[in-house]
Amino acid sequence: MAMGALDNRVALVTGAASGIGAAIAAAYAEEGARLLLADRDGARLEDSARRCADAGATAVTSPVDVTDSEATRRLVERCVTELGGIDVLVNCAGILTQAPLVEMDPQTWDEMIAVDLRSVFLCCRWAVPHMLEQRWGRVVNIASQLGIKGGESLTHYSAAKAGVIGLTKALAREVAPYGVLVNAIAPGPIETPMVAGITETWKSAKRAELPLGRFGRPEEVAPTAVLLASEPGGNLYVGQVLGPNSGDVMP
Ligand SMILES: NC(=O)c1ccc[n+]([C@@H]2O[C@H](COP(=O)([O-])OP(=O)(O)OC[C@H]3O[C@@H](n4cnc5c(N)ncnc54)[C@H](O)[C@@H]3O)[C@@H](O)[C@H]2O)c1
Repeated sequence: MAMGALDNRVALVTGAASGIGAAIAAAYAEEGARLLLADRDGARLEDSARRCADAGATAVTSPVDVTDSEATRRLVERCVTELGGIDVLVNCAGILTQAPLVEMDPQTWDEMIAVDLRSVFLCCRWAVPHMLEQRWGRVVNIASQLGIKGGESLTHYSAAKAGVIGLTKALAREVAPYGVLVNAIAPGPIETPMVAGITETWKSAKRAELPLGRFGRPEEVAPTAVLLASEPGGNLYVGQVLGPNSGDVMP
Protein backbone atom coordinates (compact mmCIF):
# COMPACT_ATOMS: atom_id res chain seq x y z
CA MET A 1 0.00 0.00 0.00
CA ALA A 2 1.27 3.51 -0.89
CA MET A 3 2.58 5.63 2.00
CA GLY A 4 0.34 8.51 3.01
CA ALA A 5 1.64 11.92 4.07
CA LEU A 6 -0.18 11.48 7.41
CA ASP A 7 0.38 7.78 8.12
CA ASN A 8 0.41 7.10 11.87
CA ARG A 9 -0.92 10.57 12.68
CA VAL A 10 -4.02 11.19 14.77
CA ALA A 11 -6.01 14.27 13.80
CA LEU A 12 -8.94 16.04 15.43
CA VAL A 13 -10.98 18.08 12.94
CA THR A 14 -13.77 20.41 14.10
CA GLY A 15 -16.51 21.52 11.72
CA ALA A 16 -15.96 18.16 10.02
CA ALA A 17 -19.60 17.61 9.01
CA SER A 18 -19.63 20.07 6.13
CA GLY A 19 -17.77 22.14 3.57
CA ILE A 20 -14.07 22.79 4.16
CA GLY A 21 -13.88 20.70 7.37
CA ALA A 22 -15.42 17.66 5.65
CA ALA A 23 -13.00 18.05 2.72
CA ILE A 24 -10.02 18.28 5.10
CA ALA A 25 -11.22 15.17 6.96
CA ALA A 26 -11.50 13.27 3.66
CA ALA A 27 -8.07 14.43 2.49
CA TYR A 28 -6.51 13.47 5.84
CA ALA A 29 -8.21 10.06 5.60
CA GLU A 30 -6.73 9.54 2.13
CA GLU A 31 -3.29 10.41 3.54
CA GLY A 32 -3.55 7.74 6.21
CA ALA A 33 -4.50 9.70 9.36
CA ARG A 34 -6.77 8.30 12.07
CA LEU A 35 -9.50 10.82 12.77
CA LEU A 36 -11.78 12.19 15.42
CA LEU A 37 -14.42 14.23 13.64
CA ALA A 38 -16.30 16.83 15.68
CA ASP A 39 -19.29 18.99 14.79
CA ARG A 40 -22.59 20.00 16.31
CA ASP A 41 -24.42 18.47 13.32
CA GLY A 42 -24.39 14.80 14.35
CA ALA A 43 -26.23 13.44 11.31
CA ARG A 44 -23.99 15.00 8.66
CA LEU A 45 -20.96 14.09 10.78
CA GLU A 46 -21.82 10.41 10.22
CA ASP A 47 -21.86 10.96 6.42
CA SER A 48 -18.46 12.56 6.67
CA ALA A 49 -17.10 9.68 8.77
CA ARG A 50 -18.42 7.16 6.21
CA ARG A 51 -16.53 9.00 3.47
CA CYS A 52 -13.33 8.72 5.55
CA ALA A 53 -13.96 5.05 6.28
CA ASP A 54 -14.45 4.43 2.54
CA ALA A 55 -10.92 5.78 2.08
CA GLY A 56 -9.76 3.09 4.53
CA ALA A 57 -9.33 5.38 7.57
CA THR A 58 -10.37 4.95 11.17
CA ALA A 59 -12.80 7.80 11.80
CA VAL A 60 -14.79 8.25 14.99
CA THR A 61 -17.32 11.02 15.56
CA SER A 62 -18.23 13.35 18.42
CA PRO A 63 -21.29 15.57 18.17
CA VAL A 64 -20.11 18.57 20.17
CA ASP A 65 -20.62 22.32 20.57
CA VAL A 66 -17.12 23.75 20.22
CA THR A 67 -17.98 26.81 22.31
CA ASP A 68 -18.36 24.59 25.40
CA SER A 69 -15.21 24.46 27.50
CA GLU A 70 -15.91 21.17 29.28
CA ALA A 71 -17.18 19.49 26.10
CA THR A 72 -14.03 20.42 24.17
CA ARG A 73 -11.85 19.22 27.05
CA ARG A 74 -13.63 15.85 26.93
CA LEU A 75 -13.32 15.83 23.14
CA VAL A 76 -9.53 16.08 23.30
CA GLU A 77 -9.40 13.46 26.10
CA ARG A 78 -11.46 11.12 23.93
CA CYS A 79 -9.02 11.57 21.07
CA VAL A 80 -6.10 10.70 23.34
CA THR A 81 -7.72 7.68 24.99
CA GLU A 82 -9.51 6.19 21.96
CA LEU A 83 -7.10 7.00 19.14
CA GLY A 84 -3.90 6.96 21.15
CA GLY A 85 -2.94 10.65 21.07
CA ILE A 86 -3.42 13.90 19.24
CA ASP A 87 -0.89 14.97 16.61
CA VAL A 88 -2.88 17.39 14.48
CA LEU A 89 -5.69 19.76 15.42
CA VAL A 90 -7.73 21.46 12.70
CA ASN A 91 -10.02 24.20 14.00
CA CYS A 92 -12.57 24.62 11.22
CA ALA A 93 -16.01 24.97 12.88
CA GLY A 94 -17.55 28.33 12.13
CA ILE A 95 -20.69 30.28 11.37
CA LEU A 96 -21.53 33.25 9.17
CA THR A 97 -24.19 35.83 10.01
CA GLN A 98 -24.48 39.34 8.61
CA ALA A 99 -25.59 42.71 9.97
CA PRO A 100 -24.29 46.27 9.75
CA LEU A 101 -22.63 47.15 13.06
CA VAL A 102 -25.19 49.87 13.83
CA GLU A 103 -27.96 47.28 13.70
CA MET A 104 -26.08 44.39 15.28
CA ASP A 105 -27.59 42.76 18.32
CA PRO A 106 -24.87 42.21 20.99
CA GLN A 107 -25.98 38.56 21.14
CA THR A 108 -25.10 38.17 17.46
CA TRP A 109 -21.64 39.59 18.21
CA ASP A 110 -21.13 37.31 21.22
CA GLU A 111 -22.25 34.19 19.35
CA MET A 112 -19.81 34.90 16.51
CA ILE A 113 -16.88 35.46 18.87
CA ALA A 114 -17.78 32.27 20.76
CA VAL A 115 -18.02 30.00 17.71
CA ASP A 116 -15.33 31.47 15.48
CA LEU A 117 -12.72 32.53 18.07
CA ARG A 118 -13.32 31.15 21.58
CA SER A 119 -13.61 27.61 20.14
CA VAL A 120 -10.12 27.93 18.64
CA PHE A 121 -8.72 28.98 22.02
CA LEU A 122 -10.53 26.12 23.78
CA CYS A 123 -9.45 23.33 21.42
CA CYS A 124 -5.86 24.62 21.47
CA ARG A 125 -6.02 24.96 25.26
CA TRP A 126 -6.77 21.25 25.70
CA ALA A 127 -4.84 19.79 22.75
CA VAL A 128 -1.55 21.69 22.83
CA PRO A 129 -0.38 20.34 26.24
CA HIS A 130 -0.43 16.81 24.75
CA MET A 131 1.55 18.02 21.75
CA LEU A 132 4.10 19.75 23.98
CA GLU A 133 4.50 16.59 26.00
CA GLN A 134 5.27 14.52 22.89
CA ARG A 135 7.39 17.34 21.41
CA TRP A 136 5.46 17.17 18.11
CA GLY A 137 2.21 18.72 16.97
CA ARG A 138 0.52 20.70 14.23
CA VAL A 139 -2.35 23.13 14.65
CA VAL A 140 -4.18 24.38 11.56
CA ASN A 141 -6.63 27.19 12.25
CA ILE A 142 -9.15 28.05 9.54
CA ALA A 143 -9.38 31.84 9.57
CA SER A 144 -10.61 33.85 6.57
CA GLN A 145 -9.23 36.51 4.29
CA LEU A 146 -11.91 38.75 5.82
CA GLY A 147 -9.79 38.72 8.98
CA ILE A 148 -7.20 40.57 6.87
CA LYS A 149 -9.27 42.78 4.58
CA GLY A 150 -12.56 43.14 6.50
CA GLY A 151 -16.03 42.63 5.06
CA GLU A 152 -19.09 44.84 4.97
CA SER A 153 -21.80 43.81 7.48
CA LEU A 154 -19.23 41.40 8.89
CA THR A 155 -17.51 43.31 11.70
CA HIS A 156 -18.07 40.40 14.10
CA TYR A 157 -16.86 37.76 11.63
CA SER A 158 -13.88 39.88 10.52
CA ALA A 159 -12.94 40.58 14.15
CA ALA A 160 -13.20 36.89 15.10
CA LYS A 161 -11.07 35.82 12.13
CA ALA A 162 -8.49 38.57 12.78
CA GLY A 163 -8.46 37.21 16.34
CA VAL A 164 -7.75 33.72 15.02
CA ILE A 165 -4.82 35.09 13.02
CA GLY A 166 -3.43 36.90 16.10
CA LEU A 167 -3.89 33.82 18.28
CA THR A 168 -2.14 31.72 15.63
CA LYS A 169 0.92 33.98 15.51
CA ALA A 170 1.20 34.34 19.31
CA LEU A 171 0.75 30.63 20.02
CA ALA A 172 3.18 29.77 17.20
CA ARG A 173 5.86 31.80 18.98
CA GLU A 174 5.08 30.14 22.33
CA VAL A 175 5.27 26.55 21.21
CA ALA A 176 7.45 26.28 18.08
CA PRO A 177 10.60 25.77 20.20
CA TYR A 178 8.96 22.55 21.48
CA GLY A 179 8.14 21.10 18.06
CA VAL A 180 4.54 22.30 17.87
CA LEU A 181 3.81 24.28 14.70
CA VAL A 182 0.76 26.53 14.57
CA ASN A 183 -0.47 28.09 11.33
CA ALA A 184 -3.62 29.46 9.77
CA ILE A 185 -5.37 29.16 6.43
CA ALA A 186 -7.30 32.22 5.31
CA PRO A 187 -9.48 31.10 2.39
CA GLY A 188 -11.22 33.40 -0.03
CA PRO A 189 -14.79 32.65 -1.11
CA ILE A 190 -15.35 28.88 -1.24
CA GLU A 191 -18.53 27.15 -2.47
CA THR A 192 -19.90 25.57 0.73
CA PRO A 193 -23.26 25.55 2.54
CA MET A 194 -21.98 28.61 4.48
CA VAL A 195 -22.16 30.84 1.38
CA ALA A 196 -25.16 29.07 -0.20
CA GLY A 197 -27.59 31.65 1.18
CA ILE A 198 -25.79 34.68 -0.30
CA THR A 199 -27.57 36.26 -3.29
CA GLU A 200 -26.48 35.37 -6.83
CA THR A 201 -26.13 39.10 -7.59
CA TRP A 202 -23.55 39.50 -4.83
CA LYS A 203 -21.76 36.31 -5.87
CA SER A 204 -21.42 37.27 -9.54
CA ALA A 205 -20.15 40.75 -8.59
CA LYS A 206 -17.64 39.05 -6.27
CA ARG A 207 -16.54 36.59 -8.97
CA ALA A 208 -15.86 39.52 -11.32
CA GLU A 209 -13.46 41.00 -8.73
CA LEU A 210 -11.38 37.85 -8.41
CA PRO A 211 -8.24 37.54 -10.58
CA LEU A 212 -9.11 33.84 -10.95
CA GLY A 213 -12.72 34.69 -11.84
CA ARG A 214 -14.26 31.98 -9.68
CA PHE A 215 -14.87 30.82 -6.13
CA GLY A 216 -12.85 27.91 -4.78
CA ARG A 217 -14.09 24.46 -3.86
CA PRO A 218 -13.47 22.79 -0.46
CA GLU A 219 -11.25 20.14 -2.11
CA GLU A 220 -9.00 22.97 -3.30
CA VAL A 221 -8.45 24.18 0.30
CA ALA A 222 -7.87 20.75 1.85
CA PRO A 223 -4.41 20.15 0.27
CA THR A 224 -3.08 23.25 2.09
CA ALA A 225 -4.21 21.67 5.38
CA VAL A 226 -2.45 18.44 4.37
CA LEU A 227 0.73 20.37 3.60
CA LEU A 228 0.76 22.13 6.98
CA ALA A 229 0.26 18.84 8.84
CA SER A 230 2.83 16.85 6.87
CA GLU A 231 6.57 16.28 6.99
CA PRO A 232 8.74 17.61 5.48
CA GLY A 233 6.32 19.93 3.63
CA GLY A 234 5.00 21.68 6.74
CA ASN A 235 8.27 21.75 8.69
CA LEU A 236 9.16 25.40 8.13
CA TYR A 237 5.72 27.02 8.48
CA VAL A 238 5.42 28.81 11.83
CA GLY A 239 2.68 31.38 12.48
CA GLN A 240 1.95 31.73 8.78
CA VAL A 241 -1.35 32.59 7.15
CA LEU A 242 -1.73 30.75 3.84
CA GLY A 243 -4.25 32.15 1.38
CA PRO A 244 -6.10 29.85 -1.04
CA ASN A 245 -8.25 32.81 -2.14
CA SER A 246 -8.49 33.04 -5.96
CA GLY A 247 -6.16 36.05 -5.77
CA ASP A 248 -8.54 38.26 -3.77
CA VAL A 249 -5.95 39.19 -1.13
CA MET A 250 -2.23 39.37 -1.90
CA PRO A 251 -0.49 40.20 1.38
N1 LIG B 1 -16.92 29.17 2.67
C1 LIG B 1 -16.14 30.23 2.63
O1 LIG B 1 -16.22 31.04 1.70
C2 LIG B 1 -15.12 30.46 3.72
C3 LIG B 1 -14.14 31.43 3.48
C4 LIG B 1 -13.18 31.67 4.46
C5 LIG B 1 -13.23 30.97 5.64
N2 LIG B 1 -14.20 30.04 5.85
C6 LIG B 1 -14.18 29.35 7.15
O2 LIG B 1 -14.05 27.96 6.93
C7 LIG B 1 -14.63 27.25 8.01
C8 LIG B 1 -15.58 26.21 7.46
O3 LIG B 1 -16.63 26.89 6.78
P1 LIG B 1 -17.48 26.24 5.58
O4 LIG B 1 -17.56 27.23 4.52
O5 LIG B 1 -16.98 24.87 5.31
O6 LIG B 1 -18.92 26.22 6.28
P2 LIG B 1 -19.97 25.07 6.59
O7 LIG B 1 -21.16 25.77 7.12
O8 LIG B 1 -20.11 24.18 5.41
O9 LIG B 1 -19.26 24.25 7.77
C9 LIG B 1 -19.13 24.75 9.07
C10 LIG B 1 -19.35 23.61 10.06
O10 LIG B 1 -19.14 24.13 11.38
C11 LIG B 1 -20.11 23.53 12.22
N3 LIG B 1 -20.36 24.34 13.42
C12 LIG B 1 -20.86 25.60 13.47
N4 LIG B 1 -20.98 25.99 14.75
C13 LIG B 1 -20.54 24.96 15.53
C14 LIG B 1 -20.44 24.76 16.94
N5 LIG B 1 -20.81 25.70 17.82
N6 LIG B 1 -19.95 23.58 17.37
C15 LIG B 1 -19.59 22.62 16.51
N7 LIG B 1 -19.68 22.74 15.17
C16 LIG B 1 -20.15 23.90 14.68
C17 LIG B 1 -21.36 23.43 11.33
O11 LIG B 1 -22.31 22.50 11.85
C18 LIG B 1 -20.77 23.05 9.99
O12 LIG B 1 -20.74 21.63 9.83
C19 LIG B 1 -15.30 28.30 8.89
O13 LIG B 1 -14.47 28.60 9.99
C20 LIG B 1 -15.43 29.49 7.96
O14 LIG B 1 -15.49 30.70 8.67
C21 LIG B 1 -15.15 29.77 4.92
